[in-house]
Amino acid sequence: MRNFSLLALCATLTFLTGTAKADLPPGVGHDETVKVCGKCHSPEQAASMRQTRTGWEETISKMVNMGSEGTDEEYERVLDYLTKQFGPEAPKPIEINKASSIELEAGLGLTRSESAALVKYRTEKGEFKTLDDVKVVPGIDFKKVEARKARLKF
Ligand code: HEC
Repeated sequence: MRNFSLLALCATLTFLTGTAKADLPPGVGHDETVKVCGKCHSPEQAASMRQTRTGWEETISKMVNMGSEGTDEEYERVLDYLTKQFGPEAPKPIEINKASSIELEAGLGLTRSESAALVKYRTEKGEFKTLDDVKVVPGIDFKKVEARKARLKF
C-alpha cells in the first residue's frame, strides 16, 4: 500500500513537473543526474534548490530513502554536479509566473517595457507552462529569455 501511494505521488510529480522545460546546464555529472534523478520526477526538480554540499548530501539520502537507485559512483558524480551547479552562490531561479516586473527585468536582462509586456500577458492569459508559451508574447525579444532558460522555473 505504501509503495502504491509513493508510485502515485511519483506519477503526479512527473505530471506536474514534466511540462517544465528548464534544461539542466551541461557539465560533468549531468548525464548521471538525468539518469538517476529523472526516474520519479523531472530531473530539473533539483534545479529548484540552492544549497551547500551537505545540503545536497541530505537531499540525496532523502531520495535514496524514497527508493532512488544508483551506484556509489553515480551518486558521487550527482553530488559534485549539484554542488557545482546549484550551490548556495548560484543565481536563484526566476519564477516566471510569480516574479515581479522588476525581478523579470533584472533576472532576464529585459527592458522595462519588455518585462511589463510579460506581466501584462501573464495577467491576461494566465500562467506560462513552457518556454513555448513565452515565445508568443508580443513586444519582447525572446532570445533574451531563451538565453537564460536554465534559470527559469515554471
Ligand atoms: C524513487 C523516486 C525518486 C527518485 C529516483 C528521486 N526523487 Fe526526488 N523526490 C521524490 C519524491 C516522492 C519527492 C517529493 C517528496 C516530498 O515532497 O517530501 C521528491 C522531491 C525532490 C525535491 C524537492 C525538495 C524535497 O526535498 O522534497 C528535490 C530537490 C529532489 N526530489 C531531488 C532529487 C534528486 C537530486 C534526485 C537524484 C539523486 C532525486 N530527487 C531522485 C522521489 C524521487
